Amino acid sequence: MNKIVEVLPDKGALIERSLDLVLAKMQEAIEQRGRCTIALAGGGTPKPLYEAIATQDLPWDKIHVFWGDERYVPPDHPDSNEGMARRAWLDKVNIPPSNIHPMPTDGASPQDDASKHEAQLQEFFGTAVGEFPPFDIILLGIGDDAHTASLFPHTEALHVKDHLVTVGNKDGQPRITFTASLINQAHCVIFLVAGASKQPALAQIFAADADPITYPARLIQPQGELLWLLDSDAGQIMSG
Ligand code: 6PG
Repeated sequence: MNKIVEVLPDKGALIERSLDLVLAKMQEAIEQRGRCTIALAGGGTPKPLYEAIATQDLPWDKIHVFWGDERYVPPDHPDSNEGMARRAWLDKVNIPPSNIHPMPTDGASPQDDASKHEAQLQEFFGTAVGEFPPFDIILLGIGDDAHTASLFPHTEALHVKDHLVTVGNKDGQPRITFTASLINQAHCVIFLVAGASKQPALAQIFAADADPITYPARLIQPQGELLWLLDSDAGQIMSG
């Protein structure tokens, strides 16, 4: 794993840089593997990136979109990560509907839906139980509490190592989330972090030694590339 940290002058530059990176990684995946599998982050930071991707002329039939986590709400709920990405990007391009692989949130329980999505991933990638398929690109953010995806501090999801997908928990609210084990198999993980409020979390995430159960983004140590794109507000901690 080689970690690269880039501090961009502002949020706009962060989005531009992340667009360039994502497009390059998409092209590389398609050239090398015939398709690109990308898992999206939720929250607010990546929305302008998704809007920018929607302006690109890409081989949409070769691009498969997943989510790294999802709030346990219907896709038309304002909190839905799927809904946000569809409005910002997917509804605006000619991507085959079958290339969009949302996390189910309409089953009998969050655990049922986590298991269902795990089976959907295994079928898509042709992997067996216990195998962890390598996504080409996984986009992530971090919360002020150093969570990532829906891997929140001191929750059970952090300890699930033998599954691809599990149930996250934010203050008692269920989430569906990739496990750290699945994220760490990715060819390329890109964190997008903006805003001064993320400084304390970043300081702990980048510290030589801190508890990953308290600062879950520390669990993300992928086999492949790890890129941290910070705007200057978030990245001030890098200037010492
Ligand atoms: C979610 C995200 C979550 C997000 C961080 C940062 O479902 O909320 O996946 O992990 O990336 O909370 O969110 P902001 O980009 O809004 O700061």
